[in-house]
Amino acid sequence: IVMKEVFDIRSLEEDLVEKLGVREVHICPGDSDETPWVQKEMGRAAFQVMKNNLLPENNVIAVTGGRSIANVADMLIPDASLKETLFVPARGGLGEQVENQANTICATMARKAQGNYRLLHVPDQLSKEAYASLIHDPAIKSILEQIRAATMVVHGIGEAMTMAERRNAEESVMEKLTKNEAVAEAFGYYFDRSGEIVHKVLTIGLQLEDLERIPTVIAVAGGASKSEAITAYMKQSPNRILITDEGAAKEILMKL
Ligand code: BG6
Repeated sequence: IVMKEVFDIRSLEEDLVEKLGVREVHICPGDSDETPWVQKEMGRAAFQVMKNNLLPENNVIAVTGGRSIANVADMLIPDASLKETLFVPARGGLGEQVENQANTICATMARKAQGNYRLLHVPDQLSKEAYASLIHDPAIKSILEQIRAATMVVHGIGEAMTMAERRNAEESVMEKLTKNEAVAEAFGYYFDRSGEIVHKVLTIGLQLEDLERIPTVIAVAGGASKSEAITAYMKQSPNRILITDEGAAKEILMKL
C-alpha cells in the first residue's frame, strides 16, 4: 500500500509539472486544510529543495510572510551549506500580523540556519510620496540592492479575498478585487484566473519582474481551498518550483 501511495504521488507530480508547465512539483500526502501537520511536511520538503538549489557561495534567500513560509522556518535546522547564507524579506510591509510578516520569518530562518539576515522596516500603508522618498534613503537603498540580488526566493500563494481580508484592505480595494475577479495573491500582487495582475500593494522590495532573473523561485502553498489560486499564479510562472499537498494537487488536476 505504501508503495502504491508513493507511486500515486509521483504520477500526480508529473501530471502537475506538465499541466502547469513548471520546473518541479513536490507533493506531500494529505490535505493541509484538514490536517495541519501536512503544512509541516510541506515545510520540510521546501527546506530540502532549498538546500538542493543553493549556489556554491554568496546565497541570498528572500522570503515572504504567511503561515506556509513560517512552517518552512519551523522545519529549518542548522546545515553547513547554509552558514554563510543571507536571509532577507522579499518585500516591505504588506499588512500582515507580526507572526506572519516576512521580517519575522526571515529572522527566524537565519537564526535556525545560523546564517545572517537583514530586515526591511517599511510601513504597510505607503503613499506615493513616501514610496518615492524611501527608495532614495541610503540605508534602504543598500538593503534593496541585496534583495534584488537574491539568488533564491521562497514565497507563499494565497486566495485573493482571504488575503485582502487578512490585511484589512480598504473597501475600494475589496471592490476592485471583486470587480476584476481576483482569485490569487502572491508578494502583494493580486491575479485573476488567467494570471493577469489586477492589483498591487504599493511597497518596496522585489517586484514581480525581478523574479525572472532569480535562479530559484520556490512557491509553498497547499490545501484544496488554494487550488484555484495556485493554478492562476503558477501557470504564469514557468521555471518555478511548487511545493504543495495532495489535497491541492488533486483539485488542481480535476479542474485543468
Ligand atoms: C503572505 C505573502 O504573507 O502569505 C503572500 O506575502 C501569500 O504573498 C500569503 O499569499 C500566503 O499565506 P499563508 O498563510 O496562506 O501561507
